[in-house]
Amino acid sequence: MALKGKSILLGVSGGIAAYKSAELVRLFTKAGATVQVVMTANARQFITPLTLQVLSGQPVCTNLFDLEFESQIGHIQVARAAHLAVLAPATANLIAKLAAGIADDYLTTVLLATTAPVLVCPAMNTKMYENLATQKNLETLRTYGHHIVEPSEGTLACKEEGTGRLAELPEILEVAGRILTPATLKGKQVLVSSGPTWERFDPVRFISNPSSGKMGYAIAQVAARRSAKVHLVSGPVSIPAPRGTTLHRVTSAMEMHDLITRLAPQMDVIVMAAAVSDYRPAQMLPQKAKKVGSDLTITLQNNPDILAQLGRSKPQAKQQILVGFAAETENLIENATSKLKAKNLDFIVANNLTQSGSGFGCDTNQVRIIDRSGDSTELPCLLKEEVAERIWDRIERLFQ
Ligand code: CTP
Repeated sequence: MALKGKSILLGVSGGIAAYKSAELVRLFTKAGATVQVVMTANARQFITPLTLQVLSGQPVCTNLFDLEFESQIGHIQVARAAHLAVLAPATANLIAKLAAGIADDYLTTVLLATTAPVLVCPAMNTKMYENLATQKNLETLRTYGHHIVEPSEGTLACKEEGTGRLAELPEILEVAGRILTPATLKGKQVLVSSGPTWERFDPVRFISNPSSGKMGYAIAQVAARRSAKVHLVSGPVSIPAPRGTTLHRVTSAMEMHDLITRLAPQMDVIVMAAAVSDYRPAQMLPQKAKKVGSDLTITLQNNPDILAQLGRSKPQAKQQILVGFAAETENLIENATSKLKAKNLDFIVANNLTQSGSGFGCDTNQVRIIDRSGDSTELPCLLKEEVAERIWDRIERLFQ
C-alpha cells in the first residue's frame, strides 16, 4: 500500500475545514502512515491540538519557541523526517506565505526547511479562491513543483455556492499515495476490464452475475498510481472510477468485446478482470415479456471469448502482456491452468469463489497466480488493492 511506513507532515491552517484534519489524520494512520501534525495559531481556533495529538499518537507542533522540543532543533528534525508534506486545509494566507517564502511561524518555517514534496489542498471562500492574487500564488507553487488538489464545488460554510470546499479526503489520500509511488509504469498503455456484463432479454430484464468491479478497479487504480496510461473498460457497477484513469462504460459482453478489440493493438498490458457473460439471450424482446402462466424458456447463444481472441491476435510488433482471471468453484489449479494455455496468457489469477474472503463483492481476495512456466504461487488473503499490487509487481518483472 502506497502510504504504508511513510511519514506525513500534516500542516493545518486556520479555516473552517480544519475540523476535517482530524479525519484526515485517522485515514493516513489507517493507511499505515505516521502523521506529524503542525498547526498554525489560527488553526487552533478551529480544532484543538489535543484532538490531533490523540489521533496521530504524536506530539503536535505549534510553537517555534517551545523550550523543550526546540532544544533539539525540533522544527528541522520534523522537516527532515517527512516523506511528504500535506497542507490541508491550506488557506489563502498560507498559500501566499508559501509562494513568497515567508517563514514566520512553525508551519511556514518547516515548509521552507523541508525537501519533501508538498501537496497543497486549498479550502476557502469562492471569491478568495478566485481572487487573482490566490490564483497567481497557486501558479507560483506549481512552478516550485508543489502538487495541488483543487478544491471541489458545493455549498461553503459562508453559505455561498462555488469552488472552495476542501477536496474529498479519499482523493487527498490517493494523490498523496501517487506522489509517493515510483512511476514504474510510466509510458505504458494499460487496459483493465472490470465488472459484470448485462445480457438483456427484454427492456427491463437481463442475465448477469454479482461482480462488484472492486478487483478490476483496484488493478486500474494501482496502475494509474504507478503512472501508466490506464483505460478502464467497465460493465455496470456502482463504484467511482479511480482518479487518473479513462473510464469506458459498457453494458453487454458484445459492447465490451467491440471496445476492447478496438483498443487492444495499442496496449502494452491487458488485464481481463471482468466477469464476462458467456451467453446472451438469442432474442431481445422489444417489450416487457408478460407472464403467461406456464414455464418460460429462453434460448441463449454464445458470446465471444474476448480474452481467447486477444491471445490469438497478439500484436507482432510489440511485447503485449495478457493476464486473465479464473473464477472457479472446483479444481482450481487444473481449470485455471487449462484457461492459461487455451487463451495464450502470460499468467492467470485464480480464485475459488466458494472460499470466504474471496471473490464477488468482498474487499479482500485470496488468489493463486499461475504462469506459463508452470510456477504456481498462492497469496494469502489480502485487500484487493494489495492483490492488485502483487499483480503489477509480477507484470513489471515480465517487462524486465
Ligand atoms: N473472459 C472473456 N470473455 C468471455 C468469458 C471470459 O474475456 N466471454 C475472460 C474473463 O475476463 C477472465 C477469463 O476469461 O479473465 C476466464 O473467465 P472465466 O469466467 O473464469 O472462464 P471462462 O473462460 O468463461 O470459462 P468457464 O465459464 O467455463 O469457467
